[in-house]
Amino acid sequence: MPETSYDAEAAAAYREAREVPREGLASWRQAVAEEAGLAAGMTVLDVGAGTGGFAAAFRDWFGVSVLAVEPAAAMRALIPAGGGIRALDGRAEALPVPDACADAAWLGSVMHHIGDLEAAARELRRALRPGAPVLIRNTFPGRGERDLRVRFFPETADSVAGYPTVEQVEAAFGTAGFRRTALHSLPQESAPTLAAYADRIRRDTDTKLRALSDDAYARGLARIREAAAADPGEPAISWMDLLILR
Ligand SMILES: C[S@@+](CC[C@H](N)C(=O)[O-])C[C@H]1O[C@@H](n2cnc3c(N)ncnc32)[C@H](O)[C@@H]1O
Repeated sequence: MPETSYDAEAAAAYREAREVPREGLASWRQAVAEEAGLAAGMTVLDVGAGTGGFAAAFRDWFGVSVLAVEPAAAMRALIPAGGGIRALDGRAEALPVPDACADAAWLGSVMHHIGDLEAAARELRRALRPGAPVLIRNTFPGRGERDLRVRFFPETADSVAGYPTVEQVEAAFGTAGFRRTALHSLPQESAPTLAAYADRIRRDTDTKLRALSDDAYARGLARIREAAAADPGEPAISWMDLLILR
């Protein structure tokens, strides 16, 4: 999705429909705490920060300052800047930050938007302090079957198949000296029930859902409603990967 496709309405819808409620991110908070060694006063570079949901979470969870880099003006306008968060116009391939300014980088659902992964890797190498981790949260080809969108809209697997694989990311980042240190599959609670998830879902906020035909989208929504009726108490748990490179 080119960043220009986010206007003010799409950005607001993204914040409402795609930002995972903070309480649903406990596993992510724990994994980042264990892997990244973040402490108050450190700086995190949030690349492709969107509307800043994770920037605010990192600040609140770990007491860090966040440099939130986001190319789409409408998304950037919704980042809660101030109080430890700076919203910056820029992209992964040309980060608007000084050398060795950050103690970790966070790239949430952004790998498949980056046109030149090797350029992004070079920039991250420049912007990070030596040994600092690159924390990548993404769905990867061949590993997305527990993503709720793939479960209920199986045709979205076609979009995911075109995303960079773990191996491609490793190879691209390897050119800048990064190596994989961990790969975790982690759950998030997107909504307390599948019915609430169906109510919340917004096709226009998601490249995978936007790629579906109207029929495929309607069939997927019907599948969620059926599953919700069959088990009204089932929470909407979706899994994504946390790939860590250093
Ligand atoms: C799916 S959103 C993810 C937003 C946020 N990280 C999150 O997890 O909610 C992808 C974001 O990446 C941004 N983006 C697109 N191309 C980019 C690039 N080359 N470098 C950095 N960000 C980019 C888009 O504008 C969009 O805000």
